[in-house]
Amino acid sequence: MAHYNTMQWLLLINFLVLIVQTRAKVPAIIIFGDSSVDSGNNNELNTVLKSNFKPYGRDFIGGKPTGRFSNGKVPGDFISEAFGCKPTVPAYLDSSYSIKDFATGVNFASAGTGYDNATSDVLDVMPLWKELEYFKDYQKKLKEYIGEENGTETVSEAVYVMSLGTNDFLENYYSMNSRRASQYTVEQFQWFLIESAGIFVKELYNLGARKLSVGSLPPMGCLPLERTRNAFYGSGCNEQYNKVARDFNKKLQGLVVNLNRELPGIHVILSDSYGILLDIIRKPSKYGMFEMGFMCNQYSPFTCTDAKKYVFWDSFHPTEKTNQIVADNVMRKSLFRFM
Ligand SMILES: *[C@@H]1O[C@H](CO)[C@@H](O)[C@H](O)[C@H]1NC(C)=O
Ligand SMILES: *[C@@H]1O[C@H](CO)[C@@H](O)[C@H](O)[C@H]1NC(C)=O
Repeated sequence: MAHYNTMQWLLLINFLVLIVQTRAKVPAIIIFGDSSVDSGNNNELNTVLKSNFKPYGRDFIGGKPTGRFSNGKVPGDFISEAFGCKPTVPAYLDSSYSIKDFATGVNFASAGTGYDNATSDVLDVMPLWKELEYFKDYQKKLKEYIGEENGTETVSEAVYVMSLGTNDFLENYYSMNSRRASQYTVEQFQWFLIESAGIFVKELYNLGARKLSVGSLPPMGCLPLERTRNAFYGSGCNEQYNKVARDFNKKLQGLVVNLNRELPGIHVILSDSYGILLDIIRKPSKYGMFEMGFMCNQYSPFTCTDAKKYVFWDSFHPTEKTNQIVADNVMRKSLFRFM
């Protein structure tokens, strides 16, 4: 067996890095989902669910309230950057961008949406099937712009990020006078959503997508809104909601396994952020954040001066800092496989 000297090791490492870099060719990041990843589509809709006003976007490039539900970037932006694509992924409905921009990354997410059509009806936002319609429209424009062959290759080499599901429970199933709650037990409702998720992935597959990340539910019983509602129990997390999230995530993992078996050439990954988010919420000091004060922005101009010290920006949405930690975590744990 040969003994390598330092120079030879360095050459070998350089060579390996080169191979990895040559392989790493994700041409575009394509995002579907809700407010966890919306980068401004809701600005163009006739809904009250918008965030294109201050103090949203306070720490974004130029301090611009883009419609992202945070003080800065959302996880889809960080994931795009990690793949060597653009550092922010523009909203498809934003007319200040064109196919030239969208060719390397595009966002179809709409805050307030869910797997269930009834969820998007609650706040008049884009249902998931509508996001898919826009994706079809995008494909046409993409192929006109970069050519049929390159377009087809881009579609199959791109990484697709799906992040939704929380609203199906918090805005729909667990809302007052919920029709779904009278139709389904929570267990049945979960299966109904899993089925919708499966249909959606299959449609994307039929449209040429091959590398997909399906996002888990967060510990939704720990969102500040739910903790306030839970104040009677000492402002802890709503354990019932967290258990529903864990149960749903298990079913989602099962779906991912089945899809990988059923669809030749597909690679679906579950991006599970439940654990990392719960850890940040339980031990914020470990991440350099405060224990107290549930959120930074209360829609007031007297927002905390340093959002980096807070886990949540508003009663539903994490700060940019939290988004970055979560995105780094899912990249390291799962999405690196698409590199
Ligand atoms: C494919 O399109 C991208 C733009 O998205 C461009 O950068 C690349 O050079 C094109 N490749 C070929 C082979 O035309
Ligand atoms: C949602 O609505 C679309 C369009 O009407 C329909 O094609 C789809 O089957 C519906 N999805 C569910 C889960 O009901």
